[in-house]
Amino acid sequence: MKKVITYGTYDLLHYGHIRLLERAKELGDYLIVGVTSDDFDKRRGKINVQQSLIERVQAVKSTGLADEIIIEEYEGQKIDDICNYGIDIFTVGSDWVGKFDYLKEYCEVIYLDRTEGVSSTEIRSKNRSLNLGIVGSFNFIQKHLNESKYVNGLEITKINSEDKIPKHMLKEYNLTVEDDYDKLLDSVDAIYIATNPDKHYEIIKKAIEKKKHVLCESPITLKKEECKKLLALADKKGVVLMEAIKTNYANAYMRLMLLAKTGVVGKIVSVDATCTSLRQLEELGEKKITNYQNSICAWGPTAMLPVFQLLGTKYKEKHITSLLSDKNKNFDLFTKISFDYKDATATIKVGKGVKSEGELIISGTKGYIYVPAPWWKIDYFEVRYEDPAKNRRYFYQLEGEGIRYELISFLRAINKKTKVGGIKKDTTLAIVEVIEDFYNKKKNTI
Ligand code: CTP
Repeated sequence: MKKVITYGTYDLLHYGHIRLLERAKELGDYLIVGVTSDDFDKRRGKINVQQSLIERVQAVKSTGLADEIIIEEYEGQKIDDICNYGIDIFTVGSDWVGKFDYLKEYCEVIYLDRTEGVSSTEIRSKNRSLNLGIVGSFNFIQKHLNESKYVNGLEITKINSEDKIPKHMLKEYNLTVEDDYDKLLDSVDAIYIATNPDKHYEIIKKAIEKKKHVLCESPITLKKEECKKLLALADKKGVVLMEAIKTNYANAYMRLMLLAKTGVVGKIVSVDATCTSLRQLEELGEKKITNYQNSICAWGPTAMLPVFQLLGTKYKEKHITSLLSDKNKNFDLFTKISFDYKDATATIKVGKGVKSEGELIISGTKGYIYVPAPWWKIDYFEVRYEDPAKNRRYFYQLEGEGIRYELISFLRAINKKTKVGGIKKDTTLAIVEVIEDFYNKKKNTI
């Protein structure tokens, strides 16, 4: 019996896939189809696959062409599969010509002509292309512009910025400048906001009133009441208002959170997060840097994220201690906040004018989770125990500092009207409350 194997993602199964499977089947007597897992696809750079693994497996099954379906989960698996299943022929479409020649050592390799004019990527972008506008300072938005290129079904078309955008950038990203914010809103489906936070409230309110979805850099506002109003307004108008903290969407961070909640380190007793960076202050100097590029606004939300996500937002007490700049009393060079819970405690340390080790430590009754600096760009973490033999290390690929998945999560929230993996409302509100207290001088200074 001649055994044939082929692999693919098979997202939104189309005519091209079916033709490929038919011809693969004709090459032998028994066809095995390897469907790639979501994680494996992310690592290969395939992003925004619309259907779940189960749905894609079901779709391949429904063609009736596969004698057996397997899941492709790791690099190098093809060699294992070929040996384990006793495969005679490996086949894929001609878009992969040459790529799998290394398998010739194990079986025959056949590249079949790809069907012209159809692909999952194309269907994905046609299906749901979201027109996204941007408001913000050029420095902040560049990474989002770059990352949007990797996200199917999302197009950034218009930009509103106080900065002058270089012509070559406009051309490269196919962008038009729109100085009139109202006009910009009228021509897009959604908006990404990266202005100073004191402007957020008005900008967001206008967008929601016009029924536009909003992705906004954190903190969403500087006052809790304003944030509450906006969240309620978004619900009323049926639009998504999502907070943008890119670390939340990094693969490793999401896994760490899940793992921590399963109790691998026992009961969590302390969460300690430090985020510092001197670069901006060094480059711009204290005069040019704005009040809102201070430590609490720039780093506070990221540092508070694991605290509120792991211990909740109902702390009993908090203490804010800041070192303020001599020249600007709203600019904290360094802030340390401690939170006391009923049976746990947490600290965050944030600095734009003080440097420290940017690590995250989650301490529990059985062990601790350690994320080395810079933890907010997490791609690796360790679970450590008293007995080092039990320690475990976890590695994940970090693509685009999490921004890529942030954009995908935003798209999914809009399309499915669910907040999969998004930041919960109570966390958003708790972050704003801390920042409001900071500005209301509910802090000690050193
Ligand atoms: N394939 C094909 N003809 C097409 C599209 C895909 O023969 N028009 C083949 C691929 O070469 C591969 C298999 O179908 O052997 C599964 O492809 P997959 O990567 O899942 O589909 P694409 O449509 O190419 O997906 P994408 O656009 O996301 O790359």
